[in-house]
Amino acid sequence: MTSDASYRESHTKPGKAVAYDSHFEYRHRAFLWSREQLILKSIRETYLGDHDYDYLDFACGTGRILSHMEGYAKNSTGVDVSPEMLSETRKKVKKSELIEADLTRSQPLGDRRFDLITAFRFFLNAEASLRESVMGTLGQLLSDDGYLVFNNHMNRYSAIAIALKLYGSIRGKEVRTWTLREIHALAGRSGLEVVAVYHTGVIPGFEWIMLLPRPISAAVESVFSRIGILRHVAQVQVVVCRRVTSR
Ligand SMILES: C[S@@+](CC[C@H](N)C(=O)[O-])C[C@H]1O[C@@H](n2cnc3c(N)ncnc32)[C@H](O)[C@@H]1O
Repeated sequence: MTSDASYRESHTKPGKAVAYDSHFEYRHRAFLWSREQLILKSIRETYLGDHDYDYLDFACGTGRILSHMEGYAKNSTGVDVSPEMLSETRKKVKKSELIEADLTRSQPLGDRRFDLITAFRFFLNAEASLRESVMGTLGQLLSDDGYLVFNNHMNRYSAIAIALKLYGSIRGKEVRTWTLREIHALAGRSGLEVVAVYHTGVIPGFEWIMLLPRPISAAVESVFSRIGILRHVAQVQVVVCRRVTSR
């Protein structure tokens, strides 16, 4: 993304959707996604239980999260601004409604409200003004006791982020990172509160590189996921928010 480009246009080029999906074949990225699936299961069980719920996946991209989550929801909707990405999603989903839109610029959802909204691999990469605008919009789309769930896939204080920042500073490349402090502040400005933070990726890794064999990594990450303080140094944080007024 160049400095004057918006993240809105980042996934609109031909070939981008197929390339995006292929990156999840990278060993470490695939491993983190397998851990995120366990986190999503835990969030569904803790916050949604047996209830029927309306679900929205914002910035659904090629449908990674949406196709995984749609089977658990009564109604399921994916929104993305990129027709290229949505065409890949269309191949994967079974029942979700797909909408091509930028919710910060149009309101195709009218007065619909959602009990669960997810937004993965979005906020870290979005420029500050878009982050603010999307967080505010998603907060408005939540039902009174609904939950917004999103991830930070490059926590600034994880070992891999520190290493990449160092490498980036030598090569003159920007490495985007995000922190829990910034997340709490952003949520607060949008009338949301953070109710839980899950984490994974305490063991450093990057794309194809994993330090340990996958079964050992899985066992170690399972233990680490129960040690709350490690959320501060894990690469991936999955945040659960609700509206402050819902208390
Ligand atoms: C990195 S992809 C994430 C896809 C998916 N959520 C996932 O985790 O695999 C980011 C997506 O955000 C979409 N996007 C960027 N700005 C947007 C906006 N303002 N409204 C809707 N989608 C947007 C892009 O088109 C892209 O598909």
